[in-house]
Amino acid sequence: MEVSHDQQLDKLDNRNQEALSSGGKERVEKHKKGGRLTARERINVLLDPASFVELDRFVTHRCTNFDMDKKKHYGDGVITGYGRINGRLVYVYSQDFTVFGGSMSRTTANKICKAMDLAAENGAPMIGICDSGGARIQEGVEALGGYGDIFFRNTRFSGLIPQISAIMGPSAGGAVYSPSLTDFTFMVKDTSYMFVTGPDVIKTVTHEEVTKEDLGGAETHNRKSGVAHFAAEDDKNLLLLIRELLSFIPSNNLDDPPKLIAQDTVDAADQSINELIPTNSKKPYDIKDLIKKVVDENYFFEVHQHFAENIVVGFARLNGHSVGVVANQPQVLAGCLNIDASRKAARFIRFCDAFNIPIVSFVDVPGFLPGTEQEWNGIITHGAKLVYAYAEATVPKITVITRKAYGGAYIVMSSKHIGSDINLAYPGAEIAVMGAEGAVNIIFRRDIMGADDPEATKAAIMNDYEEKFNNPYVAAELGYIDEVIEPSMTRKRLIDSIEMLQNKRAKLPHKKHGSCPL
Ligand code: HXC
Repeated sequence: MEVSHDQQLDKLDNRNQEALSSGGKERVEKHKKGGRLTARERINVLLDPASFVELDRFVTHRCTNFDMDKKKHYGDGVITGYGRINGRLVYVYSQDFTVFGGSMSRTTANKICKAMDLAAENGAPMIGICDSGGARIQEGVEALGGYGDIFFRNTRFSGLIPQISAIMGPSAGGAVYSPSLTDFTFMVKDTSYMFVTGPDVIKTVTHEEVTKEDLGGAETHNRKSGVAHFAAEDDKNLLLLIRELLSFIPSNNLDDPPKLIAQDTVDAADQSINELIPTNSKKPYDIKDLIKKVVDENYFFEVHQHFAENIVVGFARLNGHSVGVVANQPQVLAGCLNIDASRKAARFIRFCDAFNIPIVSFVDVPGFLPGTEQEWNGIITHGAKLVYAYAEATVPKITVITRKAYGGAYIVMSSKHIGSDINLAYPGAEIAVMGAEGAVNIIFRRDIMGADDPEATKAAIMNDYEEKFNNPYVAAELGYIDEVIEPSMTRKRLIDSIEMLQNKRAKLPHKKHGSCPL
């Protein structure tokens, strides 16, 4: 029987309507009650208007266990495709909780892998919106295999294209490993959670009682574990944050980050910076005040804001050039380096290096945090991650020592010795093996104890030590510091350095890969 064009189009339209109905009105309404957007609404907020092109809309699962062949939905619980963010191509998948709880089937895994392969082949970011009850229980090991295929691609595409995960509902079991293999994990406060084993299993095994939120909510993973990098107020806020993050990073490892036309001047010296760092080196200050004063439009896009607050990382622009900022925070733990700070900064540095984003480091660090807790939990290995990340990075690296740079922490925080290109220091910088008190107690103990007036002798020796060592000039005489600058000149010098290093060509020796202290 001949079918008219109108009938053909009607048939297509009916199928489309069915696909768009997701898991049905009732389930969609239940889902939206929690203040959540649907999987399709999320894509629409994330992407530029009308830019989304869907792939595999009519794909269905092939499972026959437990009467599953009688329960099919077009798309099978995940929406995949491509679109634009600020005009730039991105690929996306969005799990639809209203269809089999967004669970991962062989079919949904195939759809996600197809989008991932296209993203890698075409050099565009991959964004995964996760809202899923985990492996499709009816499919057994086939669903597990699907997860494995995704993990494999997450790993193989790491460092080739940016990969971003948005956790917008449950993410439990081994499913959490895909987000963790990606570069940035976003969570929504109160409605998203991630854990390897849930509260019930924990109660059975360890007898601990814990709520889902305490175990793996946005607050927990942003503040305690560091698993997540951003905590958004709601679905919309999260998706807009992803759009903003992408404005700082390139589409792939062969591209440069987007360069904007800067509104701010380059030359204007900000005199207030001269007074910003307290002269009393025991007095804290907020390093973010300094960062904001020197970057374009005073705008700093902080990453991992609530985790290891003794170090600050994030993106900013200098004369329109995107940069990654790493800075000790004297306001928290006096800016000491510890395990969490080392992990946080090392990971961020490696991301910047993989994607051609210059790194600007602000240093005010008294040293590594002492204590058994740190030693027994491996500060040696974790601290080494930070050295490794800086030393391995071949992007332009610029360092500003604002005040303290003591001991091992001086070397670790992007010193010249581990490959930094330009190292600047303020006149009040203290660059030495350790502070005067500690140094004098060790090397002059005998002289002090044998003196007629030990206290006066100690004070005199400390004065002498401070005069000799607690300044930037010893390092400047050795060429370890390129220039001691007036703080008000910071913005100008950073931009001079970034632009001077624009064509930097540095390569690591050819090898399969290094053996990073994981
Ligand atoms: C198939 C699932 C499912 C799953 C949920 N559903 N999870 N279907 N496989 N894993 C279905 C439900 O049957 C239900 O279908 C619908 O999704 C909504 O689920 P509800 O339970 O009604 O929703 P809610 O009360 O909000 O609870 C959400 C939930 C819960 C906490 C996620 O559904 C849950 O505990 N699911 C199972 C979680 C789990 O143990 N997954 C396996 C983890 S192991 P109807 O038709 O009624 O709407 C794993 C291994 C991965 O994932 C390993 C990777 C390496």
